[in-house]
Amino acid sequence: MTTIDFSLSRPALAPPLRPVPEWRAEGSLRDAYAALRAAMQVPWVGVINQALAHYEAFYLGAWRCLAPAVASRWFAERSAAIARAAVDGMAALQPDDLAARLVARGYGERELDAIRGTLDVLNHGNPQYFIYATAVRYALAGAALGRDDPVACASPRAGGAIAPHWTGGALVMVEEHHALGDLRVLYAEIKRGLDLPFVNSDYKALARWPNALAEAWAGLAPRLDTAAYRDLRERLQGLAVQAAHELPVACSLGADTARALGVCEAQLAELREVIALFQWLLSGLIVNVTWIRASLR
Ligand code: 2OP
Repeated sequence: MTTIDFSLSRPALAPPLRPVPEWRAEGSLRDAYAALRAAMQVPWVGVINQALAHYEAFYLGAWRCLAPAVASRWFAERSAAIARAAVDGMAALQPDDLAARLVARGYGERELDAIRGTLDVLNHGNPQYFIYATAVRYALAGAALGRDDPVACASPRAGGAIAPHWTGGALVMVEEHHALGDLRVLYAEIKRGLDLPFVNSDYKALARWPNALAEAWAGLAPRLDTAAYRDLRERLQGLAVQAAHELPVACSLGADTARALGVCEAQLAELREVIALFQWLLSGLIVNVTWIRASLR
């Protein structure tokens, strides 16, 4: 029997990432993206899902398997519990007074609220992407996760506003290939600081206010290599692993399922690395976005 390591761990390799952006998705994939956004009640498809979508048949199979759970109240509550745990961990990471620094730069309350709304909506989505990625990562590694619970799946989420300051619409992002000068340098620093080969949607959405992103990163960067930061990430990892084990669907996404969906051996190895990279980064992303939000109180 394979022993699975559920601890917070980054894959050693740098797998090729070929995300399928929302504007490029067609046919069944476009429909699956729309269904994911509707089920999670989010205005963007996370890069994690975009990266998995390169392996389209596997992506669609995973979505068919997980969709009933994702749409449920259970999933919303477990995701909210991860978001709350991140907030609870903030005192140890000493949030800044980013709001005061932005006001000194000329920002008005209305602009601060727009940034708060963006962060709130990201904080609403990221824990959901985290549970999703955790289920796919460890199911592919051979873990037996979840069990069919039609009653839990039939209990829908509450409707209504997803985040207090969010005014709706799509997330506007400054893509890496849009950036000039200082923002290009900042994106490079963020990638280096986080040990990632790309910039997450969250920083690209904040880059709509480039000097706010720069201020936020300057405050956050020194906290990344601290025990409090690692402890909080480990706590979030534990919660996501627990949620993946308790999913209200049997998560039949092992290697045999992937092969049956047309994933060849070389792709399977690559897919495992890709999902592991995203699953690893998401706990840090949740902490980072929560820290920036706490700095804007
Ligand atoms: C991303 O799309 C999931 O927010 C995360 O980068």
